[in-house]
Amino acid sequence: MGASPDRIGDEVPRMFSRIAARYDLTNRVLSGLRDRAWRRALVRAAAPRPGERVLDVGTGTGDLLLEFRYREPSLRLWGLDLSRGMLAVAQNKLKRSGLRGSIALVEGDALRLPFPSSAFDVVAIAFGLRNLPHPLQGLREMARVLRPGGRLLVLEFSLPRSAWLRGLYGLYLKHWVPRVGGWLAGDRPAYEYLCRSIHEFPAPDQIAAWMAEAGLRRVSVQALTGGIVHLYRGERETYPSSSAPLAASSASCRRRRA
Ligand SMILES: C[S@@+](CC[C@H](N)C(=O)[O-])C[C@H]1O[C@@H](n2cnc3c(N)ncnc32)[C@H](O)[C@@H]1O
Repeated sequence: MGASPDRIGDEVPRMFSRIAARYDLTNRVLSGLRDRAWRRALVRAAAPRPGERVLDVGTGTGDLLLEFRYREPSLRLWGLDLSRGMLAVAQNKLKRSGLRGSIALVEGDALRLPFPSSAFDVVAIAFGLRNLPHPLQGLREMARVLRPGGRLLVLEFSLPRSAWLRGLYGLYLKHWVPRVGGWLAGDRPAYEYLCRSIHEFPAPDQIAAWMAEAGLRRVSVQALTGGIVHLYRGERETYPSSSAPLAASSASCRRRRA
């Protein structure tokens, strides 16, 4: 499942506020500079059109918002996060790049999005779903604020399918990630939590099934970088699920490999 409910009250956002100042640097180092490529893959899959409204849930330091903006300058962008520390870093970053005025940053909870239904054309969440105490509820909320036919994109860590790669990656998570997180971000427990949360998070097929349960159809799953990250895409159904002739199901999921 996601972060255990007793962690979420304040604990997870507080943990992110503690590491906010060094979050980007630690990400770049731990991912071997792949994290930008993963976010760009999400933006490509979202295929945003000029003037569309895009919400980035768990925006953190705003890197995904910037990727959307680089791809299509006319997008109307919102970034939401529960951590003030992460939002402060995002705000400074947007200010430095001269973009602050055209992107709204909102403090709020992914499980109770402060937006009306059908407000967005695209909703995205990068490395945030795993941190929610109720990922399915989060997906339902994200589906709610999407207009019918709108696209939901999820980027999330996962364990590779291949046994030997999984073994190697397990060693990397256990021995290297907490050490580097301790050195660079000064918070080894936060990076121990990262490793634990990756191990505990359900497999890609389960995430795809949750997306279908949340009311998304044409759900597709793409493995990135040997399967240590997966990119999920779905579209909000255009009819109420009760009147759907055939509810979207995990059987309709398409898997793709990068
Ligand atoms: C691993 S970071 C990902 C940040 C960013 N999306 C990225 O690509 O680097 C997860 C983010 O989710 C936020 N978060 C955790 N729980 C949340 C919640 N319930 N509502 C909104 N944001 C939340 C954290 O504060 C953190 O900024």
